[in-house]
Amino acid sequence: MAEKQPYYLTTPIYYPSAKLHIGHAYCTTLADTIARYKRLTGYDVFFLTGSDEHGQKIQQTAAAAGLTPLAYVDKIVAGFQDLWRRLSISHDDFIRTSEERHQKVVQEIFRRIYQKGDIYKGTYTGLYCTPCESYWTKLQLNEQGCCPDCGRPVQEVAEEAYFFKLSKYADRLLEHIDSHPDFIRPTSRRNEMISFIKQGLEDLCISRTSFDWGIPVPGDEKHVIYVWFDALTNYLTPIGFGEESEKFARFWPADLHLVGKEIVRFHTIIWPCILMALDLPLPKQVYGHGWLIVDGDKMSKSKGNVVDPIALIEEFGADAIRYFLLREITLGQDGNISRDALITRINADLANDLGNLLHRSLNMIGKFRQGVVARPTVEGEADKELRQKGAETLQGYLKDMDNLELSEAIKNVWSFISRTNKYIDEKTPWAAAKDEARQADLDTTLYNLTAALRLVSLMIAPYMPDTAKKIWEQLALPAEDFSAANLKTMESWGGIPDGHRVGTPTQLFPRIEVEKNKAR
Ligand code: MSP
Repeated sequence: MAEKQPYYLTTPIYYPSAKLHIGHAYCTTLADTIARYKRLTGYDVFFLTGSDEHGQKIQQTAAAAGLTPLAYVDKIVAGFQDLWRRLSISHDDFIRTSEERHQKVVQEIFRRIYQKGDIYKGTYTGLYCTPCESYWTKLQLNEQGCCPDCGRPVQEVAEEAYFFKLSKYADRLLEHIDSHPDFIRPTSRRNEMISFIKQGLEDLCISRTSFDWGIPVPGDEKHVIYVWFDALTNYLTPIGFGEESEKFARFWPADLHLVGKEIVRFHTIIWPCILMALDLPLPKQVYGHGWLIVDGDKMSKSKGNVVDPIALIEEFGADAIRYFLLREITLGQDGNISRDALITRINADLANDLGNLLHRSLNMIGKFRQGVVARPTVEGEADKELRQKGAETLQGYLKDMDNLELSEAIKNVWSFISRTNKYIDEKTPWAAAKDEARQADLDTTLYNLTAALRLVSLMIAPYMPDTAKKIWEQLALPAEDFSAANLKTMESWGGIPDGHRVGTPTQLFPRIEVEKNKAR
């Protein structure tokens, strides 16, 4: 067997400053679906997520709570990990920037770039709010030109700091973007970044002396390394940067950094320049996804419209939430989540289309053939058309998924599900069961329903891993075939032996009563 190709994919590392909301869950679910799809098409995947733990804000919040920064973040990060478990996130590693393995990497990177002459000491000037102990930029101030947190005046202060020579790499970066059309996606973000770089890049301040919850600058420990330099480098730590490891050679450069649109700039300007300074190849792609909007409004604590993913998962189940997020929102664009829309999707798509297809099919196989399917010996027009539609759906699905058109891909799987439901109505197996002359035709119909469900189970596996497994189990197909399945090389139709006995149906998704929910 040919050796598996590596595929390295990351989410951003999340700030442990607040509870994670459904927007964060969106980002991680997207990445998880891509990771699962890549595994299902034969890649050796390394999928990374984590937490971005340093900085002045965390230090202050922890102090206000009477905790050390580490004790404070420990608790919050345990909550992240619990959420990812409940959402069936299949990451291969979880990086915390407070870990020693990361400190070693960041200091090594600092040392290398400093020795090269691309880090130098200078003076940082900023606007400082003394009561909040926070630095602000002019743009961040409130309308009165005061601190956006407490509303008090700020002062211009200067402190010694280290700078990274970002400006030196601007031309090389532009050339790279120009010659690699897929480096930044979607195209709208790519164009934005090109005009941003063309306006000129300033060197980047990468250290602070005003707080100490961070990684010390090697050899000058009153400085700590400032946020983005510490955060972006997380992508190098778990694969063994600096250890001459096989893993590093195998997985770097990363195939995909999936990030929210507001941090594309850091990932496509600062990050590539750091990598160029290290003489490392650049990631193959940075994809900027849109934001999840609640009932038409951006989620924020002050608006009180933050949706808690744990509550949603407890109420509707992880797979229903995953399905909604991936289907409803086109990758790269903003998308809306509302309780009504969620319930409509669950009832129409999951309980009705998919749930009924499975239930009706297994019921009929039970009733008309005591649960046993036979390989077709005859094929009519409708049968042939369904078989062809199955093959076409799989081909379209693979193409869409390879191009990260996640919403499009799952929509087409649903058209196939609808087509299969219609096939049952056209073939009227209940009538065939009573007609001596249509017994072979009935066998074909029941076999084709099993084949269609098998294909659906595999195609939805990256989106709804638990549901896919349940379908597989109800079809009573061997578990090892599910784990070994490769959507790129398998035969799209069939794969079910003559005389196979399917299981009994159980409900996949209960219908949600809309009336009862309206009152909430
Ligand atoms: N710590 C930085 C990332 C460093 S990566 C080297 C950070 N953290 S964050 O917690 O604020 O955001 C993490 C991710 O969550 C971002 O990609 C951001 O776009 C995403 N989201 C936060 N709110 C969101 C929505 N409402 N909708 C979709 N994604 C959202 O930035």
